[in-house]
Amino acid sequence: MKAAVMRGYNAPLVLEEVSIDDPGPGEVLVKTAASGICHSDLHVIEASLPVPPPCILGHEPAGVVEAVGAGVVDFTPGDHVIGCITAWCGVCKFCTHGRPYLCPTQYAGRAPGSKPRLAAKNGDPLFQFANLSSFAEKMLCPERSLVKIRDDMPLDRASLIGCGVTTGLGAALNTVRIPAGASVAIIGCGGVGLAALQGARIVGAGKIIAIDTQEWKFDLARKLGATECVNAKDGDPVAAVQGLTGGGADFVFECLGSVATVQQAVAMTGRGGTAVLVGVVPITQQVPISAADLTLQEKHITGSYMGSNRFRFDMPKYIEFYLDGRLRLDEMISSRIPLEEINPAFDRMRKGEAARQVIVFD
Ligand SMILES: NC(=O)c1ccc[n+]([C@@H]2O[C@H](COP(=O)([O-])OP(=O)(O)OC[C@H]3O[C@@H](n4cnc5c(N)ncnc54)[C@H](O)[C@@H]3O)[C@@H](O)[C@H]2O)c1
Ligand SMILES: [Zn+2]
Ligand SMILES: [Zn+2]
Repeated sequence: MKAAVMRGYNAPLVLEEVSIDDPGPGEVLVKTAASGICHSDLHVIEASLPVPPPCILGHEPAGVVEAVGAGVVDFTPGDHVIGCITAWCGVCKFCTHGRPYLCPTQYAGRAPGSKPRLAAKNGDPLFQFANLSSFAEKMLCPERSLVKIRDDMPLDRASLIGCGVTTGLGAALNTVRIPAGASVAIIGCGGVGLAALQGARIVGAGKIIAIDTQEWKFDLARKLGATECVNAKDGDPVAAVQGLTGGGADFVFECLGSVATVQQAVAMTGRGGTAVLVGVVPITQQVPISAADLTLQEKHITGSYMGSNRFRFDMPKYIEFYLDGRLRLDEMISSRIPLEEINPAFDRMRKGEAARQVIVFD
């Protein structure tokens, strides 16, 4: 099959013919229909997340089941599915306490010494990213990385739910409780931020302030529910949010992942408010923040991983939100491209020129 392989950091992905194994026990072979491109893939390419080359990236997929391995009971060939990076074990303390997205076994691949799921033409193993590797025509996944979805859900839009939408929407719906009327600010209007923004709208937030550096994003943000927009290039976004909210927002979602914007997120959070850190700051960097600011104003900071999901429950619900018109996915797709155009797509992401770009397979 054809795949885009990361052969080294900070270099273009290479289109290669690679091989994929047959499904073993508990595994499902999926024909990839579509895969969104998430900034976390770019973080890996730029060595900000520790994933070793050679590897096949891509973790925002939807597709159709082709074959299942021994013991698979939840899927049969022909099922439409979404893949998610938070596979769960079902028995650890996180799974049994209702937070399966924190399950520490989620990145377990095949047992050491087994035949790899993915291999290059010469037989060398290729690392599978997050049990998915969706920048490829097929995926071989543990069944607990997948959820079955309605057949009438278009698969290109379904793919967005695999990561960006679940992350942003879930940050607003699951990680925190936003009371109706509360003020919300979103830093970074990419796929993740635009989904958090829609979550704020869906729960009935009051002011919803979209912050970005690309003026063109604001038309889109308004269509998706922003009530105000702030261009971070036009002055201090912290002062702008404090001015719009009378001192600071009740909830701030940082959906970019830089030291400066995490500091801004905490600073623009109002007294008693909550800063939700969704963007991934490169793992080598630390963020200095004022502890006294937190104590004296009782501000909260929380991380939010993969929208605090229980994806087999959440993703079908998000599809209902799309089909009943509450969740707007069509507007979020700025382009549909073939796998061959993946490197220019990452260039557009670097420049902030895209909302969500989706690779569509034949
Ligand atoms: N927490 C999680 O589980 C999780 C899951 C998926 C993605 N992420 C992370 O979320 C972040 C966003 O991902 P994405 O795919 O939406 O990225 P993206 O590249 O599509 O969007 C980033 C946006 O930030 C804007 N921006 C750039 N500089 C800015 C600034 N100074 N102020 C305000 N906005 C600015 C860009 O114009 C762009 O619109 C990434 O760090 C990604 O790794 C986290
Ligand atoms: Zn992602
Ligand atoms: Zn577990």
